[in-house]
Amino acid sequence: MATGEPRTWHYGLVAQWWAEFNLDGPEIEFFRPYVEAGQPALDAACGTGRLLVPYLRDGLDVDGCDISPDMLALCRERTEREGLVRPNLFAQALHELDLPRRYRTIVLCGGFGLGGHREHDVEGLRRLNEHLEPGGLLVLDNEVPYADRHLWPRWLNGGRDDLPRAWPERGNRREASDGAEYELRSRLVALDPLAQTTAIEMRASMWRDGMLVAEEEHVLEMTLYFTHEIRLLLEQAGFVDVRMCAGYEDRPPTGDDDFVVFVARKR
Ligand SMILES: C[S@@+](CC[C@H](N)C(=O)[O-])C[C@H]1O[C@@H](n2cnc3c(N)ncnc32)[C@H](O)[C@@H]1O
Repeated sequence: MATGEPRTWHYGLVAQWWAEFNLDGPEIEFFRPYVEAGQPALDAACGTGRLLVPYLRDGLDVDGCDISPDMLALCRERTEREGLVRPNLFAQALHELDLPRRYRTIVLCGGFGLGGHREHDVEGLRRLNEHLEPGGLLVLDNEVPYADRHLWPRWLNGGRDDLPRAWPERGNRREASDGAEYELRSRLVALDPLAQTTAIEMRASMWRDGMLVAEEEHVLEMTLYFTHEIRLLLEQAGFVDVRMCAGYEDRPPTGDDDFVVFVARKR
């Protein structure tokens, strides 16, 4: 399914949607104590700064990186609007990460497995390890493959016969702060249970004063990882003392948790 570069959809109108509507969530407070306890920190795949901006607001020493210059531009705009210290933001893919600083903490929230290349994920973890100071912590979350009740049945034989799906008639439509309306519609294109990869297409539209002014299509390819696979990948990348907790609570995960968070230490 995946060849060449990572395929992700966090560009253009999708990036604008993130900047406008994805500002909150339990992840911000969950990851915060790790950043507070270990600075400087890196918010890897920081996007439009959902975590990064509140941390900067509190005076924490955090850099950001992301594959999408569009997400980073909107992140920078937000820091400027809020009059925050100008953050170090780097437009780099995780598997090509090459930054000037070393960190005591790296957080990776919602960013592992995106792009569709297992070998990129392996190299990404190795590079994240390389960017930590000895004893530094990587904290990353993962949505378990069986969390999505629509996707999970498609792992079964016969469950993929109707792929690619047709576009839905309507999507999720919301009004932005400047009065523009945004709509995201997505459709499942492929799922490969052997490779554990999936491809989802997104059609993003924007209206002003009732007129459609922009429409774009993007594809997201993802590798779907099981919990113990990630633990092994972390160990293979040079991490030790890998601890797991339920997302986003300080307790061990159970089979009923949709998200698992890994806390791994560089030797
Ligand atoms: C789900 S968003 C999460 C953003 C942010 N961490 C948050 O929690 O709000 C995923 C982010 O990962 C970035 N991303 C996807 N693939 C990447 C890669 N291979 N290397 C670096 N960033 C990547 C996307 O551009 C996007 O900003």
